[in-house]
Amino acid sequence: MKRALITGVTGQDGSYLAEHLLRCGYEVWGLLRGQPSPHRSRISRIADDLKFVEGDLLDQSSLVAAVDRAQPDEVYNLAAISYVPMSWQQADLTGEVTGLGVLRMLEAIRMVSGIGRSGTTSMAGQIRFYQASSSEMFGKVREVPQNEDTALHPRSPYGVAKTYGHFITRNYRESFGLFAVSGILFNHESPRRGREFVTRKISRAAARISKGLQSELRLGNLDAVRDWGFAGDYVKAMHLMLQQGNPGDYVVGTGRTHSVRDAVRIAFETVGLDWSRHVVCDSRLVRPAEVDLLCADPKRARAQLGWEPTVDFDELVRMMVEADLERAEREQRDVARAPTEPEGDW
Ligand code: NAP
Ligand code: GDD
Repeated sequence: MKRALITGVTGQDGSYLAEHLLRCGYEVWGLLRGQPSPHRSRISRIADDLKFVEGDLLDQSSLVAAVDRAQPDEVYNLAAISYVPMSWQQADLTGEVTGLGVLRMLEAIRMVSGIGRSGTTSMAGQIRFYQASSSEMFGKVREVPQNEDTALHPRSPYGVAKTYGHFITRNYRESFGLFAVSGILFNHESPRRGREFVTRKISRAAARISKGLQSELRLGNLDAVRDWGFAGDYVKAMHLMLQQGNPGDYVVGTGRTHSVRDAVRIAFETVGLDWSRHVVCDSRLVRPAEVDLLCADPKRARAQLGWEPTVDFDELVRMMVEADLERAEREQRDVARAPTEPEGDW
């Protein structure tokens, strides 16, 4: 039985990846930060099937101990400070976690595997490493669509930190012969998406406004364009990358673009409301440096991994609104008992 260690297992992607690897017959270990996370509800349904180990990307020795304990065949490094606006407020911390955290994870693998600092080693029997790189690294894009060779121009401290993680992963591959790959994933969403990200903010607001639980939705730049897909599809690409004969980096996205305004329109149509009566543009939510347009060229992932997205944008938005409608109904029922909305039941 193969063993996998997932950092960021309590996140959106970590929860889908853990489910996918369990279905593939893996023994799945999740790295948890010391104190109980408010997001553990994402994995509550599968918690009995997982093994847990404590650790933090800020703490080198905890990562060495975690890798040593889990003895994984594959490590998926999904942990990060992943919310772009927060990276301007806490740029130093973002650099430490999202950037240097990748180095610490690679060092933990190198130390536990006994791979020296000089010379390369055979890839046979090695721990394989997946790094969660991001389309945010393309930032002020140099070409449309973006592929694995497109030059990077990150526009946020988050994007800069991810760029460090991307290149240090490649560097450990080239320096030590590690089977280390980066998936350059474009935006992917689901009903498990954090509420701070724009699609979930929109689906949740549309659902709650339709149930009389909220009156308006404040947004920043409605013209931003993204290549949005379904997280459940994207974790399969992560797994496929580690099953290849040779390590390499892959762009993963749909190749189709939509604006934030499109997401708003579809979400409000789903609940039968006119979005223009409820959405307020708030200049405080506009970013200091925006990424205007991201669009993937996923040819390599299609050709070499055989990967294809299965959920289109309209379906994705509707899926998220439907899930938020159920939550809003529960919230209505529970309001007398518990004044705050329960986050659970993913
Ligand atoms: P997410 O929901 O924000 O999850 C982030 C995870 O990182 C959480 O499990 C969090 O744990 C953990 N974490 C944060 N700081 C940590 C630390 N110091 N030590 C250990 N764990 C820590 O993110 P996601 O959407 O699942 O994304 C997964 C990864 O893919 C991230 O690296 C993200 O940057 C990258 N990515 C995401 C997308 C996307 O569209 N979703 C696209 C490209 C790349 P707690 O629960 O304890 O806070
Ligand atoms: N979050 C948010 N909130 N975004 C808004 C809002 C708002 O009120 N109004 C407009 N937007 C615009 C943002 O300016 C951005 O252009 C776009 O919506 C998407 O924002 P997010 O959903 O926060 O995602 P992101 O693209 O910044 O980052 C996500 O995708 C990256 C991959 O490209 C995150 O998941 C990153 O971790 C990931 O790397």
